[in-house]
Amino acid sequence: MAAYPRKTDATGLLGWIDERFPIVDTWKEHMSEYYAPKNFNAWYYFGVLAMLVLVIQIVSGIFLTMHYKPDTALAFASVEYIMRDVPGGWFIRYMHSTGASAFFIVIYFHMFRGLMYGSYKGKRELVWLIGMALYLALMAEAFMGYLLPWGQMSFWGAQVIINLFQTIPLIGDDLSIFIRGDFVISDPTLNRLFAFHVAAVPLILVALVFVHIVALHTVGSNNPDGVEIKALKNEKGIPLDGVPFHPYYTVHDIPAVAVFLMAFFAVIFFMPEVGGYFLEHANFEPANPLKTPEHIAPVWYFTPFYTILRAVTLSPFMGTLAMFGAIIMLFLLPWLDRNPIKSWRYRNTAHMLNLGIFAAVFIILGYLGVKPVTPELKELGIRMTEIYFMFFIVIFAHSNSEKPMRYLLWFVVLIGAVIAIDFYRANPEDADSYSQIWKQLVWPVAYLAVTLLLPFIVRGCNAEQTVPERVTS
Ligand code: HEM
Repeated sequence: MAAYPRKTDATGLLGWIDERFPIVDTWKEHMSEYYAPKNFNAWYYFGVLAMLVLVIQIVSGIFLTMHYKPDTALAFASVEYIMRDVPGGWFIRYMHSTGASAFFIVIYFHMFRGLMYGSYKGKRELVWLIGMALYLALMAEAFMGYLLPWGQMSFWGAQVIINLFQTIPLIGDDLSIFIRGDFVISDPTLNRLFAFHVAAVPLILVALVFVHIVALHTVGSNNPDGVEIKALKNEKGIPLDGVPFHPYYTVHDIPAVAVFLMAFFAVIFFMPEVGGYFLEHANFEPANPLKTPEHIAPVWYFTPFYTILRAVTLSPFMGTLAMFGAIIMLFLLPWLDRNPIKSWRYRNTAHMLNLGIFAAVFIILGYLGVKPVTPELKELGIRMTEIYFMFFIVIFAHSNSEKPMRYLLWFVVLIGAVIAIDFYRANPEDADSYSQIWKQLVWPVAYLAVTLLLPFIVRGCNAEQTVPERVTS
């Protein structure tokens, strides 16, 4: 406990506050004396950009709430009113809709940076877990916000998602009624989702961002070399490879914020719908429970998981399980990847390829989610889903590069599992999908060959480099 009365060197108003609240110490701990690695690169902009977008969403959201009506009879018209009659209303609304997509773009880059540099390791597991909780909260926030304009996609998208809960054995029916507050999506559903969207989830997001940063500042930031800068300090206890966050990084981040805002406002002014990706065309039509849209697709940032849902057709519940499982796997990453080297710069080639392919597969899954299902694309979705899940097993196999025999073992096990599933699902009477299954077997085989067989056969692909003691750039 700090002694009372608090001693402070600050004078004037600051001194008055500092006697009552540790404002100077807090500033020092998190800004002017928080030593961040001096080799941060562009990938480190996305954390601060995520905070900026959060602020944009909260502020624009408050202004939208002033004119929006959470009532099924009025909601759609109130959004049209905001767009046409409220002074500057269109600007506020486009800020909010563009902000939603921008949030996910920024977060996906932020997460991929974590994967590249192994930022979930070295006592940063909690930073990662809190980040994943943020990601879940963000998805919930986006989903609930999407119902509010009460357009066709709002209604039918919510229908698909809430029906997922219905697939849970035993409790599914009651649970989905509990979520909707009715037997169908209606006024109580809109009201509760509105309450969560404007109050509960934003509070959770802000609280989680706070603990995300406190946890990060407790262990210290990672960096592109994956070197722990706190291991080497000068006689004053300052990390040799660290620079004070303020003013160095506060100033360093300004150009990134400026570039981001230029792109953000260019979208708002010149292409706010982004061809139906940021604002879907079907949502300009009021919700009609009697007319199902021909093609229901969620907004782009959900489509990778939507493809996984559609790929697993064993039973509706298994599809739901696979979709949520895809997110749960990301939570487990700190315990799956046990290789002591953090940054991919010093890991073997196979690990780099594994990460690169994972990013590509995620994008392909996203693309497939907006496309109508054909036998060819359906099979591609299944193959990409297989690779998505195998990524986590391969990253586990790469935990120890000194035992390459493990690669061979996992290669055989995984190929065996893929082919066994293929025999189980192949139905010669369904000629189209039968031929697709065998044609597209090439994808998982190629993936496993590159990530497991290659480092087993070619030594150079399994070579890890020594991590330097100091950061390199
Ligand atoms: C609203 C969402 C989020 C905000 C505002 C946010 C903010 C930040 C900020 C400001 C930093 C420090 C600067 C930086 O390293 O870029 C950071 C670091 C970090 N974040 Fe997030 N974050 C969010 C979501 C996530 C998510 C979804 C994950 C992953 C699951 C995540 C994982 C991490 C990790 C691992 C670090 C440490 C990186 C390192 O030291 O190399 N964050 N975050």
